Amino acid sequence: MKSFEKEWKEYNDRLTKYSMSKGMYDWDLFTLLNYVEKIPKNGSYVELGVSDGSSLIAVAKFRPDIECLGVDVNSNSPVNNIITSEGITNAQVTFDDSCNVSKSWDWDIDLLFIDGDHSIPQIFYDTIGWLPRVKKYGYMLYHDYESPGNAKFEVYKLKNVFEDHSKYDLYIPSEKDIISTSMMIVQKLW
Ligand SMILES: C[S@@+](CC[C@H](N)C(=O)[O-])C[C@H]1O[C@@H](n2cnc3c(N)ncnc32)[C@H](O)[C@@H]1O
Repeated sequence: MKSFEKEWKEYNDRLTKYSMSKGMYDWDLFTLLNYVEKIPKNGSYVELGVSDGSSLIAVAKFRPDIECLGVDVNSNSPVNNIITSEGITNAQVTFDDSCNVSKSWDWDIDLLFIDGDHSIPQIFYDTIGWLPRVKKYGYMLYHDYESPGNAKFEVYKLKNVFEDHSKYDLYIPSEKDIISTSMMIVQKLW
């Protein structure tokens, strides 16, 4: 797993410049960018749960050649204004419930980043709704895998679904390597 120090500095500079909420720690961003790097040219990145846009904008800046689409239920988010201020042309956000958006979505997805409501019902809704849109060998990255003490953070419960499943490859960097990131990575093999 590579680190991306320049992108991490730019990420933190943007947080200060726009008073954005911080969505990621350093190895969360590095892990995300390691997988964003695998997206083919002209491919697609979708993020469920964008908040102020800290991760979506970092991805869009890192890969100007891919399409970056965000979904967030909170239409008060400043993200689209920040996207415009930054001169970004490959990102946009739809404001609606992620389940509603999944029903009419008709683009294939190379990388789906799931970072919305972390309760188990919502994570299941997001997984079931969006899974058909993820390409064969595409990735789903789930954020906040590690917070088992917090009742609102139930991503870790999904490990059972994907572990040792012949149709998925599961990788949890914080368990396999000595990397402090709260990402759970699932590759779809079908
Ligand atoms: C942890 S924040 C996202 C952080 C962001 N990815 C970042 O790195 O800055 C979670 C976001 O999910 C959104 N959210 C929660 N439930 C949602 C739903 N059902 N559909 C769409 N967005 C949702 C919230 O409004 C919130 O902005």
